[in-house]
Amino acid sequence: MPTIEVVRGDITAQQVDAIVNAANESLLGGGGVDGAIHRAAGPRLAEAGSALAPCPPGDAKATPAFDLDPPVRHVIHTVGPVWEGGAHGEAEVLASCYRRSLAVADELGARTVAFPAIATGVYGFPAEQAARIAVSTIRSTPTGVELVRLVAFDEATRALLAAALDG
Ligand code: APR
Repeated sequence: MPTIEVVRGDITAQQVDAIVNAANESLLGGGGVDGAIHRAAGPRLAEAGSALAPCPPGDAKATPAFDLDPPVRHVIHTVGPVWEGGAHGEAEVLASCYRRSLAVADELGARTVAFPAIATGVYGFPAEQAARIAVSTIRSTPTGVELVRLVAFDEATRALLAAALDG
């Protein structure tokens, strides 16, 4: 099981082998964390992403990290569920995002991976439930990844992730 840590910060500033992007199916970029990662990685990220698209919700696909600073070598793009009230399989799709991202990290040989709070922004997934799913799924997924860093952009998300980690 990987060590899981929670930090508050910008995912593009993390010193890890791979960062996970909360993307949309086009893998062309967007707002939120997706926009920040595309700005930091440069225009080749959208070119590489579009060649792999579409990425269905719950799946994950990797591209190089392009202009992101070393040691980051890979961006793992995953597509969260759009929240539609919770009775449309949203929790299972979100768990799949974490499982599939770890599987892709294993294929890449990444040992350290940073995740944002997938689906909790534009896609509207309730942050507390998302934090519990993130931690429980990472804990129950067999992986060679040694460190998972959960990166919260705001204090409220950091506190929810920290509570899920302690729970
Ligand atoms: N670093 C870390 N976390 C960030 C950053 C950043 N630089 N910028 C935003 N976040 C946080 C948000 O505060 C939120 O907690 O990432 C979390 C996920 O929010 P979104 O980026 O809105 O992602 P999501 O809810 O999965 O929506 C995906 O948004 O723009 C798009 O293309 C993307 O259409 C897709 C949708």
